[in-house]
Amino acid sequence: MAGRNRPVKIAIFSAKKYDREFIGAANGPRHELRFFEPHLSEETAGLATGFDAVCVFVNDQVNAVVIARLYSLGVRLIALRCAGFNNVDLAAAKKHGLTVVRVPAYSPHAVAEHTIALMLALNRKLHRAYNRVREGNFALDGLVGFDMHGKTVGVIGTGQIGTMVAQILTGFGCPTLAFDPIPNKTCRSLGVRYVDLNELFAESDIITLHCPLTPENKYIINAAAIARMKDGVMLINTSRGALLDTLSIIDALKSGKIGYLGLDVYEEEEEIFFEDRSGWILSDDVFARLLTFPNVIITGHQAFFTREALLNIAGTTIDNITKFENNQPLEKVAG
Ligand code: NAI
Repeated sequence: MAGRNRPVKIAIFSAKKYDREFIGAANGPRHELRFFEPHLSEETAGLATGFDAVCVFVNDQVNAVVIARLYSLGVRLIALRCAGFNNVDLAAAKKHGLTVVRVPAYSPHAVAEHTIALMLALNRKLHRAYNRVREGNFALDGLVGFDMHGKTVGVIGTGQIGTMVAQILTGFGCPTLAFDPIPNKTCRSLGVRYVDLNELFAESDIITLHCPLTPENKYIINAAAIARMKDGVMLINTSRGALLDTLSIIDALKSGKIGYLGLDVYEEEEEIFFEDRSGWILSDDVFARLLTFPNVIITGHQAFFTREALLNIAGTTIDNITKFENNQPLEKVAG
């Protein structure tokens, strides 16, 4: 793109009202933006005709076929406006010489705080209490919780978000265990004890996932892992849906092995999340079953969704595109 004498043209897929607002403001008059509501997929890739770059989000499909098509249309940059890049075929991007960039950090606080919100809401049954009080029912039966203080929390993945979660839990007085192939000093200085996964499963009252989804750790929480956990364990996933084998999770909810489940992500979420589907018939029976449990709280991939995070996402995305245009050093995922 260097040396181009016209503005860079960017096709922004899966665009919502807040994307227009925040990305539009961060861009000002710099680049030429076009917002498209559909996800990027094999069917919609043609919308990128005439664009230099595409900007995509968590549920856009950036597989080998889509990448080959984008390349043939002249696209040279894939700018993810999120941290995770499990939806991008990096080998295909490399093969075609397409650069892939992301927003590695926009607000670990946002996701960490949402994670803690799920823990507290599940523990103190706020979702049930809210409905009861609105119905004029002030009975406390069934609402008993537990003190967080003194409960052992297992954090899987202690990068930016996992570290922040550990920091907050320190304030609650929760002994914290962690599993991460690359332990970090901040966690160690907080008193976090790194253990292997089996020990983490066996000793934790609450387990929370903060690692990326990779081909190696798909279904890291499967039937065998669940069998090693404490009876009535609380499980929280704000990372990526396919870290959990959802059918095994449902079995464990039915048997009571899992006592609480908090999800912000779901493995088939691209068919469900980010749209108002209140007038639709839900065709995903697995998701529908999850919704029937009183000890399950699901939010629709909103952990990142704070004003601060949206400002940072928009700012970094526009900076990434500008640096690419000017051939400046860039933190790349591929290319
Ligand atoms: P990060 O890259 O700072 O940290 C990830 C950590 O996981 C690293 O320390 C890495 O060594 C570790 N790790 C890698 N494979 C692992 C494995 N198999 N087991 C245990 N640890 C492993 O990432 P960050 O910013 O903390 O984000 C974590 C994840 O949170 C992202 O990959 C993304 O999937 C998810 N996320 C969810 C959001 C939401 O709105 N729900 C928003 C942002 C991120």
